[in-house]
Amino acid sequence: MTVRTVLRMGDPRLQRPAEPVRRFDEPELHELVADLTDTMHANSGAGLAAIQIGVPLRVVIFGGDANPRYPNAEPVPFTVLVNPEIAVLDDTFEEDWEGCLSVPGLRGRVRRHRHIRYRGFDPPGVVIDRIASGFHARVVQHECDHLDGILYPQRMDDLATLGFIEELQAGGMLDPAVAVD
Ligand code: NI
Repeated sequence: MTVRTVLRMGDPRLQRPAEPVRRFDEPELHELVADLTDTMHANSGAGLAAIQIGVPLRVVIFGGDANPRYPNAEPVPFTVLVNPEIAVLDDTFEEDWEGCLSVPGLRGRVRRHRHIRYRGFDPPGVVIDRIASGFHARVVQHECDHLDGILYPQRMDDLATLGFIEELQAGGMLDPAVAVD
């Protein structure tokens, strides 16, 4: 178990699509998940994709305890999701602030699908199949974007809302309870 370095925007490894996991329940996969979990917790992340620690596999983790970086978010169950797929359930959207451990210190407003169904596997290979909405759906969409080499600024409709957390808070745009990262 190791806290790994999180790659930052501009690193070309964040832009390459990740490969599917082909063998479940292998020691390498469990070690990867342990490292992802340690790294996410050390950085108070809401989620983390394997690609962000330089491992180009389709593995994401998200959720868990209340998060100081997203103090107003509804709770999301801690989940390890391998080879995820997203289906959009309707044509409603929701815009909200988003951040990323690969884009430290910044927040921007991103429009995401409000209602999704996501499917994948846990590390032993058991199917996960859930309906999600709101922040839960947002986190899953953000993490799965990483697997396709996409960072949230690429999803923004208005780059004028991209800014440093402290400046956005000083200007009254962003909740002062949001922890700086
Ligand atoms: Ni991210």
